[in-house]
Amino acid sequence: MGDLSKQPGRLRPAPESFLSEAQVKAVAAGRRDFLRKSFIAAGAALAAPVAAHAGEGDPAILNLPDWSKTLGMPVAMNPYGQPSKYESQLLRRESPGLTRVGQASVSFTPLQGLFGIITPSGLHFERHHQGWHDVDPAVHRLMINASDPAFLKQPKVYTMDDLMRLPSVSRIHFIECGANTGLEWGNVAVPTVQYTHGMLSCSEFTGVPLRLLLEDCGVDYKKARFVLAEGADGSSMTRTIPMEMVENGEVFVAYGMNGEMLRPENGYPLRLVVPGVQGVSWVKWLRRIEVGDKPWATKDEAVHYIDLMPDGLHRQYTSIQECKSVITTPSGGQRLLEKGFYNVSGIAWSGRGKITRVDVSTDGGINWQPARIEGPVQNKALTRFNVNWVWDGKPAMLQSRAVDETGYVQPSYGQLRAVRGSKSIYHNNAIQTWKVAESGEISNVQVL
Ligand code: MTE
Repeated sequence: MGDLSKQPGRLRPAPESFLSEAQVKAVAAGRRDFLRKSFIAAGAALAAPVAAHAGEGDPAILNLPDWSKTLGMPVAMNPYGQPSKYESQLLRRESPGLTRVGQASVSFTPLQGLFGIITPSGLHFERHHQGWHDVDPAVHRLMINASDPAFLKQPKVYTMDDLMRLPSVSRIHFIECGANTGLEWGNVAVPTVQYTHGMLSCSEFTGVPLRLLLEDCGVDYKKARFVLAEGADGSSMTRTIPMEMVENGEVFVAYGMNGEMLRPENGYPLRLVVPGVQGVSWVKWLRRIEVGDKPWATKDEAVHYIDLMPDGLHRQYTSIQECKSVITTPSGGQRLLEKGFYNVSGIAWSGRGKITRVDVSTDGGINWQPARIEGPVQNKALTRFNVNWVWDGKPAMLQSRAVDETGYVQPSYGQLRAVRGSKSIYHNNAIQTWKVAESGEISNVQVL
């Protein structure tokens, strides 16, 4: 690959672009000085290559800025820290026109601007069926009961204080809405990775294994084979979860997210964490767990969150999020400003365990090269991958393809549609393609 400084690649971010069309044209025409000034003006963190300033002296080095000459702000001015004002465009966003009211809607995580695997809590995607409340933890209760007294010796009610005294676990897991990438089943629908894949976040959650609570209530695992989780909001959000997932210790009731209490939008003060399973089962504002001997067939599992198959039948209770990956940068809506080196970076995940391999193609799936997996790789968590790429200025098609520890390989659109058709909403885990045009513009396309 040679000396990176001699192969500078520049990327215009989207949708938080700060260069106008005219400015981009000026850059493309080789007016680098202009580019440098506009980056400085925008306070962006893109580094201009040292060689470009040889002999003239870089004003950003020669002219001492105020922050090097004056007294800075005191501690605790922001008792709860906020991102820099220069990062103000990195936001979760609603897809324009997707839903009619904000209370039954979704805001998408800006995957294109994130690093590593943890989603900052303020950028965690939101999906509410009937709005969110800031629930008072002092009056929040978790009831554990049974549809038949034979399943559970002693139904109980726990306060938040009760729960927070119990032995806890902290684990990093992704949460993905089953509808993530759902708009793309039939054809390309949205321009950026925020909207194609942003119903996806990954956090460290802290809480109490549900197994511990059920055993505290005297569950009979031989008879009680399912649990029903119920939220305290107005949407009557209820989902059946098979008891095996609880018995193996993976499901837990969480009060913590990324080292602090859950955010209200994400279920404060208590939500269910069901690793590897679609987001709808991660019931927020969790107020009740019922144990039973068969699935409840509630509206959110019998009518919604089901898969329409090509023969017209529906698949129900398909809850595990299969292995999937996406390149987050460069990605749709961004623009490569010049030829040269780029770090192609993305995320991979699987609801069935750990990611073992990610391959990247720059020619639409004809040739593949293994990506660098940034470890440690965690179970049912996002996994970051990177690949070095030198763009030669010719059209390219960027793709990533993940493999998980079961050996499952992420399918192409052709492979997925051959089994699932194209009329579904949920569980689209096809390979994503970003097309790089000669102009450097990147767009969302589908390759079969
Ligand atoms: N729980 C309740 N009580 N109410 C809801 O509307 N939405 C579900 C799930 N849990 C929901 C809920 C859906 S569809 C998803 S994808 C996840 O929460 C989203 O979690 P988040 O808002 O923390 O991202």
